[in-house]
Amino acid sequence: MTKLRLVEKNNIESLISAAGKAIPPSGIREFFDIVYTTPGCISLGVGEPDFITPWRISDSGTYAIKEGHTHYTPNRGLPVLLELISASLLKKIGVEYDPEDELLITMGVSQGLDIALRSIVDPGDEVIIIEPCYVSYPANISLILGKPVVIETSSEEDFSIDILKVKEAVTPRTKAILLNYPSNPTGISINKDTLELIAKIAIEHNLIVISDEIYSSIIFDGEHFSITSIQGMKERTIYLNGFSKSHAMTGWRLGYIAGPSALIGTMLKIHQYTALCAPSISQYAAIEAIEKADKDVERMRQEYLKRRNFIVNEFNDIGLKCVMPKGAFYVFPNISSTGMTSREYALGLLKAEKVAVVPGEVFGKCGKSNIRCSYATSMEALKEAMIRIRRFTQSL
Ligand SMILES: Cc1ncc(COP(=O)(O)O)c(C=O)c1O
Repeated sequence: MTKLRLVEKNNIESLISAAGKAIPPSGIREFFDIVYTTPGCISLGVGEPDFITPWRISDSGTYAIKEGHTHYTPNRGLPVLLELISASLLKKIGVEYDPEDELLITMGVSQGLDIALRSIVDPGDEVIIIEPCYVSYPANISLILGKPVVIETSSEEDFSIDILKVKEAVTPRTKAILLNYPSNPTGISINKDTLELIAKIAIEHNLIVISDEIYSSIIFDGEHFSITSIQGMKERTIYLNGFSKSHAMTGWRLGYIAGPSALIGTMLKIHQYTALCAPSISQYAAIEAIEKADKDVERMRQEYLKRRNFIVNEFNDIGLKCVMPKGAFYVFPNISSTGMTSREYALGLLKAEKVAVVPGEVFGKCGKSNIRCSYATSMEALKEAMIRIRRFTQSL
C-alpha cells in the first residue's frame, strides 16, 4: 500500500522546502527594517546609485512604451542589443562574443548568477567563493543544493587572495570559482597577477570561473582587467555584467551573460522556462545606454571618486583603518580598535547618532571587524554622516 504523507490541516510550515527554510534572511534587509523605523537617519547602507537614471535612457524607455514595444522579445534578447553588447565587450575587455550564441540578456546580474549556477551545479557540487562577498552568493549556491566553499580574506592583508588557499580548496566536487571585482562590500579589485594564478588553477582542474564584474565601469585607479581576457579563459568563464550600477538603472532589472556557447545554450533553456525574456522596455532603454550614455557614466564615476577620497581620508583620520578601494561605491573600514563587533558598532551608531551602516559580518564571518559604508549618497549627507561617526567613535 502506498504510504501517504500525513496530512496536517493548516500546517503550511511543513510544506516549505528544506532549502528554502535553510537560507537565512538577508542580513542587510534585516538591519534596514530597524533603519526604516528610525526617523532622521542618514543611510550609508544602500547598495545602489543615488543618481537617477540619465534622462536620455529613461526617455528611450518611455518612447518604447509609446511605440508599443511592450511584448515579449526573443528569449535571448533583442538582436540589436545583443550586437551592441558584443561590440561593447570587445572594446572594454578585448574579448569577442558571438551575439547569436555566446550572449544572453537577463533580468539583472541577480538572475544571470542564478541561471549560471543552475547550469553547472548539481546537488553536492562545490563552488569556491571569496569572503567577504555579496550576500547573495552563498544563498544562491545553497538554494540549488550546492555547497559554498569559503576562502577568507582580511583588511589586515588588504583583502588580497591567498592563492594557496584557493588551490587547497579544490576537490573533485569543485565546479566553479565565483569572483567579484571590484567587490561588494570592500571596493577592492583583484590584480592581474592574481587573476592569472586563478586562471591557471581553473584550467588545471577543469573549473568554470563565474566573473561578476558589475562594478567594472566604476574604477578609480588604472583600468579594469577581466579574467575572461586571459588566454584559455573565454572557454571557461561565465562573465556577468549589467546596467544597474554603471547606468543607475537598478529598477530596470537588466543585465547580461557572456560565455561559451554550450553553457549559454543551457542557460537559455533555463531562462526560457523561468523568465521567458528580460523586460522589453528596459532592453530598448539599454540600447540608448550603450550607444549614447558614456558621458553620463563618466560623470557619475567622477562624483564617486570625489566621495571615495573624502570618506577614506575621514575614516583613516578617525583611526578606523580603511583600505583604499579601487572601484565600486563602498568602503569597508576596520572597527576592531573600538573593541566592538561590527553588529554592536552598527547598532550603537544607529542608536546614538542615527547613521546606518551595514555590519561587515553579513558578508561573511571574516567581515566581523568591519562595517560597509556606501558612498552612493550626496556629499552633503556624507559630510554630516562622518561628523556623527567621528563623534560616536570618539565617545567609545
Ligand atoms: C556584486 C553584485 N552582484 C550583483 C548584484 C545584483 O545586481 P543586479 O541589480 O544587476 O541584479 C549586486 C547588487 O548589489 C552586487 O553588488
